[in-house]
Amino acid sequence: MDIPTLDARPLELGTVLDSDCVAVGFSKLESGEISFPISTSLVRKIEAKFQLNLIDELSFFSATGKAGEIFEIPVSAEGVRCQRLIFVGLGKQSPVDMRTTGAALGRKVRGTSRSLYSLAAFSRGDIRLHAVAMVLGTYQWNLKSGQKKSETPKFYVGDTHASEVARAKIMATYVWRARDLIHTPSNIKTPAWMVSQTKSLTKHPDLNVKVLSGKELKGFGGLLAVGNSSPNPGPRFIQVSYAPKGSKNWPHVVLVGKGITYDTGGVTLKRPVEHMVSMKSDMAGAAAVLGVVAAMPEVKPKARVTALLMCAENALSATSQRPSDVITQYGGTTVEIINTDAEGRLVLADGLAYADMHLNPDYLIDVATLTGAATHGLGRQYAALYTRNVALAKDLQAHGERTGDRVWHMPLIDDYKIALESSVADFSHTADKPKFSGGSVTAALFLEHFAGQRNWVHLDIAGTGRSDTDAGENPKGGTGFGVRLLIDWIAGLE
Ligand code: BES
Ligand code: ZN
Ligand code: ZN
Repeated sequence: MDIPTLDARPLELGTVLDSDCVAVGFSKLESGEISFPISTSLVRKIEAKFQLNLIDELSFFSATGKAGEIFEIPVSAEGVRCQRLIFVGLGKQSPVDMRTTGAALGRKVRGTSRSLYSLAAFSRGDIRLHAVAMVLGTYQWNLKSGQKKSETPKFYVGDTHASEVARAKIMATYVWRARDLIHTPSNIKTPAWMVSQTKSLTKHPDLNVKVLSGKELKGFGGLLAVGNSSPNPGPRFIQVSYAPKGSKNWPHVVLVGKGITYDTGGVTLKRPVEHMVSMKSDMAGAAAVLGVVAAMPEVKPKARVTALLMCAENALSATSQRPSDVITQYGGTTVEIINTDAEGRLVLADGLAYADMHLNPDYLIDVATLTGAATHGLGRQYAALYTRNVALAKDLQAHGERTGDRVWHMPLIDDYKIALESSVADFSHTADKPKFSGGSVTAALFLEHFAGQRNWVHLDIAGTGRSDTDAGENPKGGTGFGVRLLIDWIAGLE
């Protein structure tokens, strides 16, 4: 499905009513009174045009004002396009509420060619969240044959903060692109396919793509150990850099994404099989970092950005690695393989070590659907964030709360490091003896070694990268988690 259009338009009666649907936000005060976020004069003009009273209409429905609550009434007036007024509850107008209302409106016109003007968000802060959520609420993906192509809605919001609408458009577009990659099934989505998708998303003179495959991957021991399990057609290292003219002294952000195009678990096969079914989304980290770097020429931050997509399929075959193998990661660290299902950290370790050795990052951030354990404490709405830099964690957390890609700062518990010791290699790659549990913590401790002394952040998005339900801003499947967070954070760097 194509991305809906999103534009800013004057907040005048004629323009507002020139859409098929007009969404009117409302709040219910503690006194039970209803209030609208638009000017009384605009309320009066709408009422006069359609000869109705908005408060009376809402009273009929016994509205509660909960965020995303929707009531719809047909309207008509001579020479006016608008045929539906959609009342949408604004809750307490918190960032979550503004996203919830946006998503509810998006869902209302999903799959149609209707135009919708939203009169629900107006402040500089809210308008972007609301607009992004409207677009994302319409997301659909399928390969059904013989069906009429799903139609694409059009969204409008007021033009008081046109730059926020422009930023919303960029954010929604690149979350959408990331979702498309994650939803694509793995018989299509090989590492080589990831290369072609990367090339088509980065056709801008300020973006540069470098790909390593076959013999060029010599030294990338983790990527090869995992990816050589599949002839489909072997692993790929994809580097995309944004470094426009004059950017030499800007901070350099390097993003490393886990790009496992399918995770069977390898020889340590995933069981029960239900755990395997969702594993086409095990490249959600790579999709996110690609979305972020591809957006950079439009966002124009004062930062250089490099994305490393570590792409491989973790297959079960005669060339799969085995528990007890010892591999050599990029840079020379040796690792004893315990459980071939812990493949993500192996490909990421190569990427982190490569970045540390060659790219001199000021910030080194990896994004990965790394461990089921990350979801145990936090559920599916917060990603686990690991870093030693408390200020940076706080900053990212604040950006996450606003954009909707919410993260929680988790501890790197040093005492657990002994569980990564091996008698035959520098490290064991899964924390087995002693077993501390905390699988997301020990995975982060493993990765930390490869980031050297860099300002490193690890985002475990195993829970947030995929949604089990089709609700709110998220379709069932890939969410595009991380794109909004990182674009927003990078845009604020100097
Ligand atoms: N891709 C999985 C993690 C995952 C699980 C992502 C559920 C999304 C949803 C990863 O490669 C994996 O299998 N991790 C193992 C690690 C274990 C073997 C140490 C896990 O989480 O069980
Ligand atoms: Zn795995
Ligand atoms: Zn995996």
